[in-house]
Amino acid sequence: MAVSRIGYISLYVTNLDAARRHYVEVVGLRETGRDAHGRVYLQAADNQDHHCLILTEALHAGIDHVAFKVGEVEDLAEAQAAVRARGIAVRGVPAGDALGAGAAIAFTLPSGQEMRLLHHLDKIGYATGMRNPNPVPPHGKPGARVTHLDHLLLAGERPADTAQFLIEVLDFNLSEQVVAPDGSVIAAFTTCGHTMHDLAIAPGPNGHLHHIAFGLESRSDVIGAVDIMKEAGTTLMEYGPTRHGVSGVTTIYFFDPAGNRNEVYNGAYQAGGVPGLIPPIVWQAQEFPRGAFYYESVVPESFFAEVT
Ligand SMILES: [Fe+2]
Repeated sequence: MAVSRIGYISLYVTNLDAARRHYVEVVGLRETGRDAHGRVYLQAADNQDHHCLILTEALHAGIDHVAFKVGEVEDLAEAQAAVRARGIAVRGVPAGDALGAGAAIAFTLPSGQEMRLLHHLDKIGYATGMRNPNPVPPHGKPGARVTHLDHLLLAGERPADTAQFLIEVLDFNLSEQVVAPDGSVIAAFTTCGHTMHDLAIAPGPNGHLHHIAFGLESRSDVIGAVDIMKEAGTTLMEYGPTRHGVSGVTTIYFFDPAGNRNEVYNGAYQAGGVPGLIPPIVWQAQEFPRGAFYYESVVPESFFAEVT
């Protein structure tokens, strides 16, 4: 199996124009298309694929689905067989269901969110262009200087089930986990690529999203992003920028106008290797506040209570 990296996230938002403005003028994505259903497609600067984010207007915020990419077309059939063998139904999604997207398979994670796997997304090139480009996007570009969509954190009533599914069926690797005194897994951080997490799962109601995260080129770019958010009147978390103990990154959380939690961050460590052969970092539950917020060592009550 070769799930290679996150492809895109499809989000529900309650006001499409306000959400588009947020993701372009605050986060710093570029709009790359609109489809017949009115969905808006966006991409970050350092990704050639057609989109990393789809916005769909709905009565509520939350996650529609997350799509991961596989390395070879043949991996889709292999994944379909592996997911079905686990007793989970799989449906085919025709090419073009999302603008620029090839055929996909879709199934429901143990935590209730829809996950898709696909091989193809149309190439539109980097934001800087593909012929004799400047190495950096123009400094007049609106929004934070995010480079890519990096990961997401899902909520689940039994996080261990989703982590096990990702590891045992889709060959994700476990990089860090939070463990209760009885040894049960409270939260898990899994990777299919080169850095320490692509998909994480933490306690919360099934079917819900905790946050989506975008990468920045430097830790100082996190400060720059906060300046942009303050100027735009973006709703930020109670505190930050801060540092996670888990992953070690410099980070800030904030919210899109619909209430979906966003993160921009820099500094994730490399965690490539053979699945199952790299021992994960273990956080004991009593140390988790330091793992979540290394400087403050306090997890605000709202942090896990508020999901979309
Ligand atoms: Fe995150």
